[in-house]
Amino acid sequence: MIKKCLFPAAGYGTRFLPATKSMPKEMLPVVDTPLIQYGVQEALDAGLTQISMVTGRGKRALEDHFDISYELENEICNTDKEKALDGIRRLIDECSFSYTRQTHMKGLGHAILSGRPLIGDAPFAVVLADDLCLNPGGDGVLTQMVQLYNQFRCSIVAIQEVPAGETGKYGIVAGECMREGLLRVDRMVEKPRPEDAPSNLAIIGRYILTPDIFDLIAATPPGAGGEIQITDALMKQASRGCVLAYRFKGQRFDCGSAQGYVEATNFCFENFYKPAQAARLSQGLEQPLKVASVA
Ligand code: G1P
Repeated sequence: MIKKCLFPAAGYGTRFLPATKSMPKEMLPVVDTPLIQYGVQEALDAGLTQISMVTGRGKRALEDHFDISYELENEICNTDKEKALDGIRRLIDECSFSYTRQTHMKGLGHAILSGRPLIGDAPFAVVLADDLCLNPGGDGVLTQMVQLYNQFRCSIVAIQEVPAGETGKYGIVAGECMREGLLRVDRMVEKPRPEDAPSNLAIIGRYILTPDIFDLIAATPPGAGGEIQITDALMKQASRGCVLAYRFKGQRFDCGSAQGYVEATNFCFENFYKPAQAARLSQGLEQPLKVASVA
């Protein structure tokens, strides 16, 4: 049974400056909920209750978010505002949280390796919170991947087709089709130019990794961008054993880009916020908005 989920969250978020100058990019809200909370909810929905985060300087808000805020909670106690904390309270009650810091930004592979003391010798999931993955009405992406892991017991990456010109933004995989939506990986390249890409199937920020990955990362030299890449370590794992690539059901929003962030915001507003607000209104828990009339 997989119980652990690692969130690499040490990156600077330079694509969202100035918003991320003193605030972790993982705390950017999509409507009223920070990105990291969507990710932890997805993990809990998949039965992963041991949450570990690799943070860095300036990221304390992440730890505070997954803790009680006595003063605030006392202030809103017994008011209609209290309900807004139901979701985060459930995560705090049902999950455990542990943290470590990555002192130097040496790439995603290095960030995952920094989480080794928190994960130990167990299979684990990895979530990159700025890839927001949603599947309203169906299983979340991690739930789908945990089900596959229970069947195949090997590392799995989530994939999605991307336009051929965008391969340089992703890890790209190719392999043998095992069944509809599932590949056995035989090639994997980090951020190839379109002409060098083995396909247009891009890795999205959801992984399930077996713990032998740690030794493979430790032996991986810097690759694309001079960083230690998880993609390179996974390629070694694929050539020795088995790595699967899974075309998940659901939608993915690249919330590391302004366009993806705005799209995610509109999607969540329509699919989650508005229906919840309508339910509150019908129960009389919230007053309709008063629109000021212009004389
Ligand atoms: C990372 C991975 C890349 C993957 C991407 C998904 O890249 O290195 O393989 O396709 O996440 O979002 P980054 O976006 O951190 O540059």
